[in-house]
Amino acid sequence: MRKIGSKSRQIIERDHKVMGALTRPYELVVDRAEGSTIFDVDGNSYIDFASSVSVMNVGYHNRAVREAVCSQIQKMVHCGFPDFYAEPPVKLSEKLCEMTGYEKVFLSNSGAESVEAAMKLAFWYTKRNSMIAFYLGFHGRTLGALSLTASKMLHKEHFPSVKVLHSHYAYCYRCPLNLEYPDCGISCAKEIEKTIFKRELSPRDTAAIVVEPIQGEGGFIVPPAEFHHELRRICDENGILLISDEVQSGGFRTGKFMAMENFGVRADIVSMSKSIGGGVPLGATLSTSEIMSWQPGTHANTFGGNLLAAAGGLATLEFMEKERLGEKAVENGVYIMKRLDEMKDKYPLIGDVRGIGLMIGVELVEGNKDPAVEKRNNIVNLAIENGLVLLPAGDSVIRIVPPLVISKEEIDKGLGIFEDVLKKT
Ligand SMILES: Cc1ncc(COP(=O)(O)O)c(C=O)c1O
Repeated sequence: MRKIGSKSRQIIERDHKVMGALTRPYELVVDRAEGSTIFDVDGNSYIDFASSVSVMNVGYHNRAVREAVCSQIQKMVHCGFPDFYAEPPVKLSEKLCEMTGYEKVFLSNSGAESVEAAMKLAFWYTKRNSMIAFYLGFHGRTLGALSLTASKMLHKEHFPSVKVLHSHYAYCYRCPLNLEYPDCGISCAKEIEKTIFKRELSPRDTAAIVVEPIQGEGGFIVPPAEFHHELRRICDENGILLISDEVQSGGFRTGKFMAMENFGVRADIVSMSKSIGGGVPLGATLSTSEIMSWQPGTHANTFGGNLLAAAGGLATLEFMEKERLGEKAVENGVYIMKRLDEMKDKYPLIGDVRGIGLMIGVELVEGNKDPAVEKRNNIVNLAIENGLVLLPAGDSVIRIVPPLVISKEEIDKGLGIFEDVLKKT
């Protein structure tokens, strides 16, 4: 059982005085980390099942990323990439194109920025003024991305938005239409044609449908492949662009570099961030040459293509490929899901276990499938007390998203703590 020490206490107090708007699920003051283990400032260690929100796929303190960043620091930290040319961002973009098959890249610093760029590109290319996104979707908190986001009212209250209509995601465990897959005929996707296009938004005004391949913040919701196929069909029939938000699910977390590959669907524009920087702030928006043909100056930023981020990002992508992180994600994902399914048989609190690769959600329920919100929060808190970092998602989901380099021993230890905590709850 860890004890929050005096160093942690002092930093938390100082933090509360100066920081605004941040929510922390528990009191963990980090000091350093290695692979899949985090150490706090009082010397406690924790197995990490959260990857700092699906960022640290290559593991903490990754040597390849560190060396690439340090070597770039010796030469030059930043150049005005929108004004000058430089090789590191070009190399990074070439690598991203090689790995995805897209032809053009816009570099930025975060997930929300990569989504903003995708939105602006779709508006610019189609000359249309509206978009469709999904309930429970999360795309970031800048105003454009926030317009797409529909996970918590708290995020949206009082803020003006771009015109976005929301439709139902294929959340089969809690079907919003009270139907059952596959008899439903994937009606949730068809709602776009049946209701939105008939009553509220003309397809001729719809620039893009924006979707997460697997919803992350909304509760780790894995739709049937048919859902994405239907979205692709609706886009194709109406000249609408399909934007895949791979910010959380990309970077081999689901086995494939882009999670949408699992569903056999190709988007027109892709947003990536989080894991592709290996911990260095990096965002990328990818598309074809035809779509990303906006004139110079239509969209730009100061730090996109920053030399450190580019060097770190390239080293991250090379490491991911060299170490076959996609294969490891699939192998370990199957193992963890099996263990979680066994726990589901033992503990009625677990209502659903779902995921692909190492993007796994455990939905906790009580009574008649009511979200076990308090119990979920207790489990996350008890886990940290016992040396396991978990993060919540959705209403009552726990996400299991460890670094893709995690070892079997660490997985077993982490799952052991998880089960102990479940028992206690
Ligand atoms: C799918 C998705 N898109 C966009 C974002 C926003 O990314 P950022 O917090 O880097 O702006 C997130 C963040 O969790 C996300 O999960």
